[in-house]
Amino acid sequence: MFKRILLATDGSTHSLRAAEAARDLANLVPEAGITVIHVLPLTPELTMELQKELDSAEFTFEEALNEKARPIFKRTLEVLGNGNFSVQTRLETGHAADQIAQAANSGHFDLVVIGSRGLGNWQEILLGSVSEKVCHSIHIPVLIVK
Ligand SMILES: Nc1ncnc2c1ncn2[C@@H]1O[C@H](COP(=O)(O)OP(=O)(O)O)[C@@H](O)[C@H]1O
Ligand SMILES: [Mg+2]
Repeated sequence: MFKRILLATDGSTHSLRAAEAARDLANLVPEAGITVIHVLPLTPELTMELQKELDSAEFTFEEALNEKARPIFKRTLEVLGNGNFSVQTRLETGHAADQIAQAANSGHFDLVVIGSRGLGNWQEILLGSVSEKVCHSIHIPVLIVK
């Protein structure tokens, strides 16, 4: 049974559709749980942006990261609503596909739910680079939502 679901979200329309699918599935499975994972890439641009926030306010680096991810989690949690399942959020930093795959392969999940595409501009491609890499590198079932 797909009881422990890992839902990957970047805030894109596709990932919100993935959230709908995860929600509908979790509502069918007794005692299901959804873990929403978002990965912030620590690019030089983001690091500089966060550093500015740290300089202007009394934020810790971790708090600044949480602030950055907050709107993405918020939108996703709104889609999930108050269903018959538990919800957790998990914020990681680094390379999105690697972090999602590492979580998926940890033994804590039965299914990954992911959007086919994300925030990229390549409308004509079938799979984005994150969803493609995750599909290739995980050992558990994956539901790709178009
Ligand atoms: N940084 C991220 N954190 C978590 N999930 C992500 C991230 N980036 C992409 N995803 C997941 O992968 C799906 C496909 O996105 P992606 O492969 O990046 O496509 P694109 O190339 O169009 O941006 C998204 O719908 C989302 O579910
Ligand atoms: Mg992307």
